[in-house]
Amino acid sequence: MKKYIVEGGNPLFGEVQISGAKNAAVAIIPAALMVDGVCRIENMPQISDATLLMSILQDMGAHIRVLNKSTVEIDCSSLHNARIPYDSARRCRASYYLIGALLGRFGAADVALPGGCDFGGTRPIDQHLKGFHALGAQVEVQGGFIDARAVDGDRLHGANIFLDKVSVGATINIMLAAALADGYTVIENVAKEPHIVDVANFLNSMGANIKGAGTDIIKIRGVERLHGGTYSIIPDQIEAGTYMAAVAACGGQIKVCNIIPKHMDCITAKLLEMGVEVEEIDDNLLVRRIGPLVKTNIKTMPYPGFPTDMQPQMAAALCLAHGTSIITESIFSSRFRYTEEFKRMGAQIQVDGNLAVIEGVDHLTGAQVEACDLRAGAAMIIAALAAYGTSEIRGVQYIERGYENVIEKFRGLGGNISVSEIPDEEEALSAG
Ligand code: UD1
Repeated sequence: MKKYIVEGGNPLFGEVQISGAKNAAVAIIPAALMVDGVCRIENMPQISDATLLMSILQDMGAHIRVLNKSTVEIDCSSLHNARIPYDSARRCRASYYLIGALLGRFGAADVALPGGCDFGGTRPIDQHLKGFHALGAQVEVQGGFIDARAVDGDRLHGANIFLDKVSVGATINIMLAAALADGYTVIENVAKEPHIVDVANFLNSMGANIKGAGTDIIKIRGVERLHGGTYSIIPDQIEAGTYMAAVAACGGQIKVCNIIPKHMDCITAKLLEMGVEVEEIDDNLLVRRIGPLVKTNIKTMPYPGFPTDMQPQMAAALCLAHGTSIITESIFSSRFRYTEEFKRMGAQIQVDGNLAVIEGVDHLTGAQVEACDLRAGAAMIIAALAAYGTSEIRGVQYIERGYENVIEKFRGLGGNISVSEIPDEEEALSAG
């Protein structure tokens, strides 16, 4: 196991290149299994969630060629359907997309219930299952597995589906299954995140007929087969936002490169309120903080609202803002576990249900902290870079699930951060 050592207290300067979007990649890889041909996927982020999903496809007979750092070819022409075991599914939440993709391609899926980031509350998938059922699948949850199969032969059929909850995962999963179903599907009250549009664009470029992604209603005319093609994944909104929050917390000036500025509006707006300067230059943002940080209130919402996946990173910056800030988490019932770690660094935070009240302090001090999930881990890097003294961050495997070359990228901005191995005996002690 590894840990990160961070010497904090310095502003950040320089340029950072943003990688392909994690949450698009982890849906597009399962989507590739529906394609009868070679998918060349560009701007694929090098993150462990993507590697894991590709290895699951390989186990089912996919041929995968890595052409360069960010381009892969996935050929699932001779794929066989297989049970996805617990050991694979539990390591990545997005493994739930394998259900929709396998149902679409084979009319049957047998996948262990997903794992991934545990925010402390439950993360149900009832809306995914409701959608599969409407598309003509019989769905059973038994022994930790979801066994879903088309009732009429090997193909699902189109349906009208109204989601009870705006869900990113359910929207994409139902879209996957419906893309190869027989007939017309309308999904209402869908999520509108940029990566939903990206997955729809990917499928369309492989021959699917999906309209309306990015609006409240998605309409899908099922096609017989998907063919190979080339597709480039959009830049990662949350990775970009993480570096923007870092410069807010640490001060300095950075250029966040290769992004879609429109996707950043919800994050940029909050940073401007906090006294951070953000300037758009083509597909880059120049982010500068020279003066003091000012308090603000944040409420997480489905896109185009403020993303829950940016909430911990902004909290890190708000710990250092003048005044009292309130964060309202309205997507997940419990996503403030990380605040206990911030308190170890001197932050003043009170959590009450889905509210966190942050009283800004003059400075944080380095401490030993543990990442409890992916975005909490990123927030701990930010807090540690802003803090005086040395911090040790454990649980970094969560961070590497979704951030490409995070150490190198922060070092490129002047962050003093290194990796070290946790000695076996120390690991045994902390596990106990
Ligand atoms: C996805 C993202 C995650 C992000 C989240 C919200 C991926 C792989 N993960 O997670 O990074 O934090 O969107 O933007 O893209 N819900 C139900 N029933 C369901 C599904 C969801 O009640 O069947 C609830 C959830 O508990 C949550 C809310 O709906 O309260 C939104 O969840 P959802 O958008 O589905 O999140 P995920 O797809 O799990």
